[in-house]
Amino acid sequence: MDSSITPHLACPRSRPRRIADDYVPPYPAWSARIDPAIGQVVMASYGVQWRGPGDADAALAHVGALRAMLDAASGARHVDLARYVDEAGYDTLVLQPYWTDPAVFRRWEGRTDVAALLAADTGLGHFREILTPTAERLETLYSTEDEMEGLGRALERRSPPVQEHAYWGSARDRFPIAQTDALEPTGQLGFAADGAGRVTVRGHDNIAIIRSGQDWGPTGGEERRLYLAEIEPVLRAGMDFLRDRGGECGCYLNRYMRIVDLDGTPQEKSFGWSYWRSLGDMETWSEAHPSHLAIFGTFMRIVQQLNFDLKLRLWHEVYVVTSDQQLYDYRNCHPDTGFLKQMPR
Ligand code: HEM
Repeated sequence: MDSSITPHLACPRSRPRRIADDYVPPYPAWSARIDPAIGQVVMASYGVQWRGPGDADAALAHVGALRAMLDAASGARHVDLARYVDEAGYDTLVLQPYWTDPAVFRRWEGRTDVAALLAADTGLGHFREILTPTAERLETLYSTEDEMEGLGRALERRSPPVQEHAYWGSARDRFPIAQTDALEPTGQLGFAADGAGRVTVRGHDNIAIIRSGQDWGPTGGEERRLYLAEIEPVLRAGMDFLRDRGGECGCYLNRYMRIVDLDGTPQEKSFGWSYWRSLGDMETWSEAHPSHLAIFGTFMRIVQQLNFDLKLRLWHEVYVVTSDQQLYDYRNCHPDTGFLKQMPR
């Protein structure tokens, strides 16, 4: 079977996989392939935060203006827009463009019109979370063959069915860098406030980030009913746990987000977006914590009930980044926004 690791990124392992070489997964899944010309990607999140319903139009207008600047000349390869209400009750829109070349991204952010909009004083809260993992520091998994999402759309190419999935520890086995590196976290978060409402956060080495998505648009009949009535409530409970008590498991922050159109209309797509102290902490939560085991168990029961014939699309992308592959800044945001929650008070 094919490995999830794109062939040019494979190397002799000093760290073995958790499976035997002849392991065959019980159901198929696919990964994005990384073109050898792509050494590093950019996943940016531009958030705008507000509380009063009267500010929603201004937030949508801001996001719409930024979206218009992500034109063909921007070089962005894929853009998502998503919305969530955070733990403090603030509504938030996040524009998430992907690039496959950090130099092209830097040129875009440096454009006069873009820089002016990103610095504009709108009276709303704004944050920027920029991740720039190198190719060996990312992995993806898609449960269906027909569509990829997020980073997969930016990378464009898909693998044949891959071997490394459907067992605990498979996410690690899909990382090229984990062939030789334990991805242990080192260092601490650092915070710098300018006294005028702006805080910059420095990430430490080997923070792990997951974007774990669900697309129930293609489902119908009994499958749709079971997704909405049985899986989604358990997923939401798990996402609430990570948001409110994730610190107990090494999760710095979690957002359960809904993909929306530019006018704010929700699509039938959601995702969990979380930042962890390490890949090890993320693995331990997924493998052993009741909140993910409940999601996993409910899903597995329903898959069997539906005779493995599912239209539901599940996907995820995970990055493990070095300190200099992360940039977080928060402007005029409430004190529990994103990484600010971790700031010593
Ligand atoms: C409806 C929602 C979800 C379902 C049905 C689900 C189910 C699953 C399944 C079936 C796997 C094994 C996949 C494979 O290797 O073939 C898995 C792995 C995993 N899930 Fe979820 N999950 C959901 C949401 C989430 C969310 C929102 C997160 C994190 C925020 C998450 C974190 C993980 C991680 C980290 C793994 C990899 C574990 C490892 O490799 O050891 N899942 N999940």
